[in-house]
Amino acid sequence: MNESEGLLRALLSKASTALRNPRAFLPNVDDALFVDYLLNTFVNKIPLPQVRMALYRQAGLNVDVTSNIMMYCFVLEARNITIGPNCIIGPFTTLDGRGTLTIGRNVNVAGQVLTIGGHHLVDSPTAEGLVGKVVIEDNAWIGMRATILPDVTIGEGAYVAAAALVNRDVPPYTLVGGVPAKKIRDRSRDIAYTLHHLPPWI
Ligand SMILES: CC(C)(COP(=O)(O)OP(=O)(O)OC[C@H]1O[C@@H](n2cnc3c(N)ncnc32)[C@H](O)[C@@H]1OP(=O)(O)O)[C@@H](O)C(=O)NCCC(=O)NCCS
Repeated sequence: MNESEGLLRALLSKASTALRNPRAFLPNVDDALFVDYLLNTFVNKIPLPQVRMALYRQAGLNVDVTSNIMMYCFVLEARNITIGPNCIIGPFTTLDGRGTLTIGRNVNVAGQVLTIGGHHLVDSPTAEGLVGKVVIEDNAWIGMRATILPDVTIGEGAYVAAAALVNRDVPPYTLVGGVPAKKIRDRSRDIAYTLHHLPPWI
């Protein structure tokens, strides 16, 4: 057996051990972090929504069967995240459950949105960490690349414009935008659509 054959055998043996006992691969990582690792390394790249969503549910993410977390989303602490019926979470969005993240019914979260569930006290000598809760109520609409900071509630039917930085609660049926987000105008309460986006792939 030459050197490269030996290396290949050693690699195959490591891979087979990892498949039989994935935890042996990362022995010092706690369970929640390990679940995040699996979700963000493998599950979020599965191009079959039903399979992907079943695995998110297995990981403790409480998402309704009518909702879709599209590919390439980044999830932190799945077990602290709840997503109601008829929601769409666009690709490359970060869903941060380090505090709690609660999304109501019929909510559209566009692609590349950031929800942030944790932070560190700026003046703390120990960089003390804090977690907060983010709530997005029914029929809200979050535009692309919006960022939602901890302890913010986006009210029912509110609309967050693309690229907004939301650092305060948004009242129901209000359109906000900018950095930090400010009211642009009221949003109509006449909402007649129901979101449903679970194609066999993507
Ligand atoms: C906010 C938005 C919905 C437009 O709403 P609208 O009521 O038609 O707003 P208008 O274009 O008439 O603009 C109204 C004001 O808001 C401002 N505005 C519009 N979009 C803005 C944004 N993303 N951020 C900050 N201000 C914005 C405009 O400059 C204008 O300000 P002014 O009155 O001082 O000139 C749109 O700009 C947007 O951000 N859409 C989200 C796109 C997206 O993310 N798509 C993916 C969804 S799946």
